Amino acid sequence: MIKLAKTAGFCFGVDRAVNLVYELVNKGEKVCTLGPIIHNAQLVNDLKSKGVLIIDDVDECPEGYKVVVRTHGVEKSVIDKIQMSGKDYVNATCPFVTKIHTILKKQPENVPVLIAGDINHPEVLGIRSYCNAPSYVFKNEEELLEIIKNNNFDEKSDLVCVSQTTFSLNEWKKCEKIIKRVCTNCKIFDTICNATSDRQEEAEKISKVSDAMIVIGGRHSSNTCKLREVSAANCPAFLIETADELKNIDLSSYEVIGVTAGASTPSVIIKEVLKSMSEEIKEKEVETASAVTEEVVETADNANKASEPAVKASADSEASFAELLEDYIIENENSKVVKGIVSSITPNEVYVDVPGKKQTGVVTLEDLTTEPVSKCEDVVKVGDELQLVIMKTDDQCGVLKLSKRLFDAVKGWDDIVAAKEADEVLEGTVTNIVRGGVLVSAKGTRVFIPASLTGVPRNQELDVLKGTTVKFKIIEINPQRRRATGSIKVVAMAEKKAQQEETWAKLEEGMKITGTVKSLTSYGAFVDIGGVDGMIHISELSWSRIKHPSEVVNVGDVVEVTIKSLDRENRKISLGFKKIEDNPWEILKRDYPVGTVCEAKIVGLSAFGAFANVIPGIDGLIHISQISWDRIKTPADVLNVGDTVQVKIIDVDYDKKRVSLSMKELLEKPEEVIEDLADDAADAE
Ligand code: F3S
Repeated sequence: MIKLAKTAGFCFGVDRAVNLVYELVNKGEKVCTLGPIIHNAQLVNDLKSKGVLIIDDVDECPEGYKVVVRTHGVEKSVIDKIQMSGKDYVNATCPFVTKIHTILKKQPENVPVLIAGDINHPEVLGIRSYCNAPSYVFKNEEELLEIIKNNNFDEKSDLVCVSQTTFSLNEWKKCEKIIKRVCTNCKIFDTICNATSDRQEEAEKISKVSDAMIVIGGRHSSNTCKLREVSAANCPAFLIETADELKNIDLSSYEVIGVTAGASTPSVIIKEVLKSMSEEIKEKEVETASAVTEEVVETADNANKASEPAVKASADSEASFAELLEDYIIENENSKVVKGIVSSITPNEVYVDVPGKKQTGVVTLEDLTTEPVSKCEDVVKVGDELQLVIMKTDDQCGVLKLSKRLFDAVKGWDDIVAAKEADEVLEGTVTNIVRGGVLVSAKGTRVFIPASLTGVPRNQELDVLKGTTVKFKIIEINPQRRRATGSIKVVAMAEKKAQQEETWAKLEEGMKITGTVKSLTSYGAFVDIGGVDGMIHISELSWSRIKHPSEVVNVGDVVEVTIKSLDRENRKISLGFKKIEDNPWEILKRDYPVGTVCEAKIVGLSAFGAFANVIPGIDGLIHISQISWDRIKTPADVLNVGDTVQVKIIDVDYDKKRVSLSMKELLEKPEEVIEDLADDAADAE
């Protein structure tokens, strides 16, 4: 007859670490582990075949690889070194080991630490590195007494005592008695992991009623060796790594055979061992053995499934999450909601103390929030009180798997329904681009926004919304399926309308306002002046004559305009752009009074004169009679378009906007020259 321990197989910490590595490998990451991830050659070989490297030092980590720190944890200096190297790393240290590090970090300096454990075990090496004072490791009563004697520890000594997570429970009880008797001032922390103690207690119980024990697990695995030790105290105990090794053991003389397995033993190996054993003892107890085997194989499966949550809230789509959530609520009603206080945080997990529960609460990043965050610290901090849903209680490992995300989703659904009824505007983050639209995370739940209601133009990718915060309204809900559909567009349109009303209310003719050029046409420029568009006619863009608005403004330009006229009924706004101070007639009046001599450029010729540009926007006329003292038939005889000539402003008619120019007045008069010559001759006589 075979008796399989219920606790056989992966513990919480190993399951977590193994899953972490497989998840990375499946994502296509290159991974190396600092030492074997667990003490199980078969699983380690499988990982090797998938390209996972085992290194002893971070210096050996090749470029582009992620370093995984295994369940035992490592010395503080190793973590420091990894961080200094800039390597990407994943800390798979079991939370129960991390808890010991945290306890020791908080202890005062100069308080020696007693550690129950194996002095050479990597977990103990790691634990020692977090001590603020000298540490002493003992593996049994004798070694403990020796330490106490050599260091003169007594009832006055300030001391701290912790244990390796996999330390023998029996040995711990004996050592604890000594410490309590001799060193009464010692703060004792029982840090043996529940998974270990439960496993050892069960191994002890089974071995007491069995004729022999088979312990399955790695020979280097500390907890497997402890199981063998505990079992061997009551009956012959055989440690095997695989089913193959059974052939070296003669089981024929044993009536009842107990089976247990270490925390790092995969279920597949336990199954193989049970299968081989059942075949071997079939002839004697065919019925019983096969019945037990069926049962125990199932139990072995369950052991490794222990860490799977009842509801896996890793919704890749709104539909799957909503359905799972619905099932969960129906099955669990309200009985599973608890309060938890955050006690520590890692990038991927939050640990919480749940009042009234002896188990450690764990919330993974996936179960923390629907928001697209990369680490737990972005969502909670130590000391926060959280409302959580219990997903799974794992008494074997002393772990409560909790979900904040699920609680938020349940509570958030009520808020979503209320928001729909109140026509409330909600805010959320676009987390996923899905077929036909986007998913927005809000109120702890996800809302689907169809592409046509996102406000993103058809020719643009929805990706532009990913990670952005958007405002939306719920436009439809399906209470049965707990699905909500929203619209960003409806909010954007309402906001635009409100802004337009506000703008119209404050607009007045003559007021100056800043706007942005939205588009150009051949007859003018359209300017957004706060949700409403006005038009600058081409003639209003410049004092000079222009052929196209683009000679003055471009789309996107921020311009200051004047409201020339408002047609509130037809919602039309005429804008002015030219500035009075730039009016060339004003410039002329100020800087070019009659009599001014200046340069001008010939811009046109006619039979009666030449047109010359005096300043930008003003052309004056040089009448043919004002070109020269000589008689000329036509201005083209002496002038060409493009010539620059000296002119004198001889008259300005501001009403008719006419400027008269003369070139002749700047030239000497021929009669005067003649008179001068005559005068000179007369003087000489
Ligand atoms: Fe962690 Fe306990 Fe397993 S310490 S690795 S859960 S045996």
